[in-house]
Amino acid sequence: MAKGEGCLSTRLGGIELKNPVLLASGTFAYAEEISQWVDLNRVGGLITKTITLKPRAGNPPPRLAETPCGLLNAIGLENPGIEGFLKSKLPFLLRFKVPIIVSIAGEDKQEYVELARKLQREGVAGLELNISCPNIARKEGRMISQDEKATYSLTRAVRRETSLPLVVKLSPNVGDISAIAKSAEEAGADILSLVNTFLGMAIDIDRRKPKLGNVIGGLSGPAIKPLVLRAVYEVAQEVKIPIIGMGGIMRWQDALEFILAGASAVAVGTANLINPLYVVEIIEGLKGYLQKEGIGNIEELRAGLEE
Ligand SMILES: Cc1cc2nc3c(=O)[nH]c(=O)nc-3n(C[C@H](O)[C@H](O)[C@H](O)COP(=O)(O)O)c2cc1C
Repeated sequence: MAKGEGCLSTRLGGIELKNPVLLASGTFAYAEEISQWVDLNRVGGLITKTITLKPRAGNPPPRLAETPCGLLNAIGLENPGIEGFLKSKLPFLLRFKVPIIVSIAGEDKQEYVELARKLQREGVAGLELNISCPNIARKEGRMISQDEKATYSLTRAVRRETSLPLVVKLSPNVGDISAIAKSAEEAGADILSLVNTFLGMAIDIDRRKPKLGNVIGGLSGPAIKPLVLRAVYEVAQEVKIPIIGMGGIMRWQDALEFILAGASAVAVGTANLINPLYVVEIIEGLKGYLQKEGIGNIEELRAGLEE
C-alpha cells in the first residue's frame, strides 16, 4: 500500500476495504489481462464477471456500440459456468490480496441458491446477486430487480443459504428504485450495488439495422452518471445498509460525488475499457484530496453534502 492510504480504509457491510474503489462486474473479465497493466493489490476489491450455473456463450455479435459519452453492451453473460470458474478463474483471482466478490445470476431462484452454496467455502469475500442484467431474456419477461416481491423472495432464499456478505445489484430501469432497495434490505442484503446498465439502443442508419446483435443493450459510462447519482442519493436516505455506487466514474472527482451522495464505496466499470490505469488515478486522487483537505478518513465524507 502506498504511504498514507489508511485514510481511505473503509468497512462495507462486513467486508474490510483498504480503499473504497472496486472494479465493476464484467469490465475486467477475470483479471488475467488487466493485471498485466494494473497492480490489482492497489484496488479496494474486485467484483467478478457474472457467473451462471452452466457455461453461457452470450449474445450474437456485435455486442458493443459506442455512443456519445457512453457505451452500449449486450454481452449476454458469456461465462464459463460455475465449475469452469472455480477450476480455472478463481485460483488466479485469489492470488490478489483484495476482497473478491463473485457476481452470480441464475435462470431461477434455485439456481441462485445453488450458486451461493457452491461458493460458500471457496475463500471469496462476498456474493453479488446480479438480478438486473438487461441482456438476458427471462421467463418472467422482466428482470427480478424490476419487482419488489421477486427481489425480496430471491434475496431471502440466498440469504438463508449463505453466511457470506450479500450484495444485491439493482437496475435503474424501474420507477421507484428506493422501493426495490428496501425489499432487498428487508430480505437480508448486506450491501446494495447501484446500478446495472440502462436499457438502450443504437441504429446504424446506413445499414438501417440496430447496431447491436441483440438489438437492445445496456448503457454505461459518463452519460449515466447524473442519473445514478440521483438514485444513490435517494436510496441512501431510505436504507441503512451500505451502497456501492457505479455509473460513469472516470476520475476521482466522480468517485467523490458518489460518496458525497451517500455511497460507501464505488465501482469503476466502463473506464477500465478505456484506460485500465484510471482506477489507480482515482485512488491516488481521493487520497490527495483527503490530505489536502485535512480529512482523517473517507468515511467522514459519506453523505456529506452541505445543507
Ligand atoms: C462490457 C460490460 C459488461 C458488463 N457485464 C456485467 C456483468 O456481467 N454483470 C453485472 O452485474 N454488470 C455488468 N456490467 C455493468 C457494470 O458492472 C456496471 O454496473 C455498469 O457498467 C455501470 O458502471 P460504469 O458506467 O462505470 O460502466 C457490464 C458493463 C459493461 C460495460
